[in-house]
Amino acid sequence: MSQSLARENRILSALLEVSKVLNSSFDLEKNLSRTMRVLGEFLEMERGSVFLLDQHTKELKIVAAHGLTREQIDRGKYKIGEGIVGRVIERGSPVVIPNVGEEPLFLNKTGSRIRKGGISFLCVPISFKGEAIGVLSVDRIFKDRAITVDEDIRVLEIIASIIAQYVILWKHYKDTENEKEILKLQLKGRYSLPNIIGNSDRMQEVFEAVYRVADSKATVILYGESGTGKELIAKAIHYMSPRAKGPFVKFNCASIPEGLLESELFGHEKGAFTGAISARKGRFELANEGTILLDEVGDLPLNLQPKILRVLQEREFERVGGERTIKVDVRLIAATSRNLEELVSRGKFREDLFYRLNVVPLFLPPIRERKEDIPLLVEFFLKRFNEENNKDVSVSAESLRVLVDYNWPGNVRELENTIERLVVMSGRRTIRPADLPLNLKLPAPEEVLQKESLKAGIEDIEKSSIRDALEKTGWVQAKAARMIGLTPRQIGYKMKKYGLSVPAAIL
Ligand SMILES: Nc1ncnc2c1ncn2[C@@H]1O[C@H](COP(=O)(O)OP(=O)(O)OP(=O)(O)O)[C@@H](O)[C@H]1O
Ligand SMILES: [Mg+2]
Repeated sequence: MSQSLARENRILSALLEVSKVLNSSFDLEKNLSRTMRVLGEFLEMERGSVFLLDQHTKELKIVAAHGLTREQIDRGKYKIGEGIVGRVIERGSPVVIPNVGEEPLFLNKTGSRIRKGGISFLCVPISFKGEAIGVLSVDRIFKDRAITVDEDIRVLEIIASIIAQYVILWKHYKDTENEKEILKLQLKGRYSLPNIIGNSDRMQEVFEAVYRVADSKATVILYGESGTGKELIAKAIHYMSPRAKGPFVKFNCASIPEGLLESELFGHEKGAFTGAISARKGRFELANEGTILLDEVGDLPLNLQPKILRVLQEREFERVGGERTIKVDVRLIAATSRNLEELVSRGKFREDLFYRLNVVPLFLPPIRERKEDIPLLVEFFLKRFNEENNKDVSVSAESLRVLVDYNWPGNVRELENTIERLVVMSGRRTIRPADLPLNLKLPAPEEVLQKESLKAGIEDIEKSSIRDALEKTGWVQAKAARMIGLTPRQIGYKMKKYGLSVPAAIL
């Protein structure tokens, strides 16, 4: 076998070995040291060292080396531009010192090269996407003068690019590990309510308030669009309160005709009106020692409002058609999807009742304002409906993105129904975007507008920075392009797009 063929084989084996080593684990120092050893064993490249740029100190530090002691490693630090290693990172191109003994730039900081003759020092940048993140250096011991360093540099550049990818992956891995730690810490200080999902700050505020008010008898009013969980929170307050063993009574003020409302709420005596064949308790009486939820309280007719106010203040009322004053011990929680203040200003809602209800206002945000909760809600409902239906349906990452992007006008209820339908109807195990209902995939009209105006905004910025650069460089396109990181072709294209042309005064 010829000399060069033998070397080529060794190069291939070395490359294979390096990628095996770097694929084995995320132990950065160990694997890079093993890589440097491979260079020595296969390629007569000794004292291989990997320097990485510390983003904070802007210093190059050896992270792994072969054939250097710990002390020598610790000494090996360079600033950008300092020594050969510092120059390589500054320029982003390789440097070769054919004979180490004759080079003044060669700082030999580690003090490791005693026998100087016959050693070339090769140094290549470690770059990722055009940015130098470190340097790889080796001592090439040449017994054989026939070999050109060009080939060595080429091999080292390949190895440096494998190392670059490994380092970037490693950094990413470290970041996610750190994030996981931070997340764990954050979760510790968080509030949770059974079967209520909400990790967003807005929901956490609500949960915290629930904990604070549950013990008291304070009136709470829940504001929120349809399906945001008002009833769920009302129940949570009740079941966390000292009245948990008492009844939870729900009444929707918008659900029955006005004429029947009073007797529904306060009950009636026998013969109070035609059809009242026997006495009947109203909701307030039924809720005694418990909690009553008055849903859609904004729909309470004006003539009934003083009676509610009286219950709140005096804890007493009379049944319809009755003389007897009935005393109750009830906690009231109100809920509404309407703007009560506005109803007050329009004279549709009594101001005194509004203030009496508005003691502890809680605002339940719509889902579109807490999108980070969507994946958690999806997971929660998938689990519930999979269990109910004895299935094992999951949602693909792309489908989840569609679910997160959608703006859910019906809020959690709409999401819950959507997931239930998907689980029940799905014949497959993984829901793909094609399986999702069509309306989820169409952008809402206002979003289209937003995206358009965002695009226009970005284009404005781009146009003016290109014009700036052109003016600063006296309309020399190549210079201007370099200034803002475009290629001459790109700037030409953009100039045409934005109608930018060299002013007549300059031509
Ligand atoms: N944070 C949440 N976590 C889990 N399930 C929720 C959450 N919020 C709402 N839900 C579920 O969504 C559905 C609607 O919630 P709820 O009835 O409490 O809303 P609402 O605000 O009272 O709506 P509406 O105004 O239409 O009466 C319920 O099935 C409820 O269990
Ligand atoms: Mg409700």
